[in-house]
Order: sequence, then structure tokens, then C-alpha cells
Amino acid sequence: MASFENKTMVLCRLCMIIFIMSLFGHKIMISAEFPRFEHPTKGDGTLRFLVVGDWGRKGHYNQSLVSFQMGRIGEELDIDFVVSTGDNFYDNGLEGVDDPNFLQSFTNIYTSNSLQKQWFSVLGNHDYRGDAEAQLSHVLRRIDSRWLCLRSFVVNAEIAELFFVDTTPFVTDYFTNPEDHKYDWRGVTPVKTYTANVLKDLELSLKESRARWKIVVGHHAIRSVGHHGDTQELVHRLLPILQANNVDLYVNGHDHCLERISDDKSPIQFLTSGAGSKAWRGDVDTSNREEVKFFYDGQGFMSVQMTQSDVEIVFYDVFGRVLHKWAMSKNQLHSDM
Ligand SMILES: *[C@@H]1O[C@H](CO)[C@@H](O)[C@H](O)[C@H]1NC(C)=O
Repeated sequence: MASFENKTMVLCRLCMIIFIMSLFGHKIMISAEFPRFEHPTKGDGTLRFLVVGDWGRKGHYNQSLVSFQMGRIGEELDIDFVVSTGDNFYDNGLEGVDDPNFLQSFTNIYTSNSLQKQWFSVLGNHDYRGDAEAQLSHVLRRIDSRWLCLRSFVVNAEIAELFFVDTTPFVTDYFTNPEDHKYDWRGVTPVKTYTANVLKDLELSLKESRARWKIVVGHHAIRSVGHHGDTQELVHRLLPILQANNVDLYVNGHDHCLERISDDKSPIQFLTSGAGSKAWRGDVDTSNREEVKFFYDGQGFMSVQMTQSDVEIVFYDVFGRVLHKWAMSKNQLHSDM
């Protein structure tokens, strides 16, 4: 009897250990993935948001004008949230969590009622030139509850899932040829391991996604005919993952312009919205680029409107005038393929 009891006890303990180990293993698996946020839509079957990038200049270079028009269009569309494609604070990110630039370039600029929504932001290369971790800090969220900036994360907005990717560490030039800039690489080194993990986690999140629309957001362009052009590291390492996982839109900033470029190998649209303040660089390279559907070398922003079946992208200038519109139906897309 006693030995039987002992045996069950041992068995129980064993089960317990296996159970705990499986919990632990599960936890490790989850923590390797991007943090996830749920952002339920209004329940009317639509999702609407604005996209702005490369903006934080204390209102200068038409940042205030762009902000005013974002407020107007945001009201018209009754937007669910705002996406920032990075380079949130010029010239060198934030100096720390108490840098007044946060209030001067964000809180006190985007004051319209319709912009008092959640902002989802990634970091740009200029943000990495300051205290990058400050922008990720909970302290900023206490100062302005709209603010949410992480390196890489997923937002489930019911109709669509948005995958935010930290692209700056992919660009080797910032490491090998930093010129006189200092970058805050805390938390992203060794960079080969870091970027490999970002891609692995992105791929996993995309494969698991059941969303009707998949939108990937990063600071750097995959395709651009603006000043910086294509980001080769992303063309080689990120683009194949997007093509293999039915991504619909890749949204970025970095080049201070507005663009729509089609992929030649998939239905992906490359959308640049990096015109939140300083623009008009005057250099555009459209040689051999049949895929360039729209390019505007000035300030402005972009809106995205979606239902289960349709998406509409609109680009606006500093006067809120529509520069370019593009719409697509998902069913049509599948029959095209
Ligand atoms: C502000 O926008 C107007 C209209 O597009 C443009 O003419 C002007 O050059 C812009 N100002 C700056 C500083 O970029």
C-alpha cells in the first residue's frame, strides 16, 4: 500500500514537473514573439487611420499645417488611430524622457480633437541618434496617453493586423559608416542576432495571422524613388517574407515625400508617408520604374480606409487636397492572382 502511494506521489511530481516545464516553454515561445495589442474597431465593419512620418520639428517646415489638415481629415473619416512611420523627433531623437521636444513636437502640435486617439509609432534612424529607449518608455505614455512606441509589435485591429518592424538596425551603413552621428544601439546588439530574430518573429506572426488584411509598417522604404531610394537590406531580407505571407501593404517613411509603388512580383503596394514636416528635396529617380504609380515631393500625409472586402488609400498635401487615390477589392485581388 505504502509503496503504491509512493509511486503515485512520484508520478504526480513528475506530472507536475512536466506541466511546469511546458508552461515555462510556452512562456518562452510567447516572449520571443512581438508584443501584441488589441485595438477593436468601432463595430461598423470599417477601419480608418492616418499615416504620417518624419515629423517632429516643433511645428516648423509646415509640420503645423500638416497637423491641422490631419485633424480635419481625421474628423471627416472618424479615424480609429494614427500610425507614425518614425523619425518622430529631429534632429537627434529625444535626449531623455523629460526632453521638452516631446511636448513641443508632439503633444502641443497634434491638438485636433480627431487626433486624440492612440498613436502607434516605430523608431526611425534619427530617433536612434538620441536616447532611443526614452521613446519606448512608459513615462512618455503617462505624459501623453496617445503615445505608444515600441521597436517591433503587432496591432490587431479586427479587419486588419498591423505588424510594426524596427528597420533601422537592418541598415549596415549606420554601423560601418556612422560619420559624426552617435547611435543608441542599446538593446539591439549583437545586431545580426537581433535582426534575424525580428525577421523570425515577424514571419511567425504573419503565418499565425488570420486577419483579412496584413499591413507591415517600418521606417525605411523597401522601394522608393526619393532621396534614399530602395533599402537594399530590406529588399533582400524583409521583402521575401512579405511576398511569401500575403502581405497587402508595406508602409514606411524615411524619404520625405509621398509615394505609391507596386511590387512587380506580388500584389504588395509600397506606400511612403514620410512628409510630416521638412520636404522638397528635389531629387527623384524614376528611371526604369514602371511600378511607380504616384510620387509627390512635398509635405502631406496618407489615409487608409478598409472594410472586409475593400481598401482605399488617399494621399493629401498641406492644404488637405487629395493628391492621389488608390482602391482595391480583395476578391478582385484573388481572382487576379
Ligand atoms: C509649405 O508648403 C507650401 C505648399 O506646399 C510650400 O510652397 C512651402 O515651400 C512649404 N514650406 C516649407 C518650409 O517647406
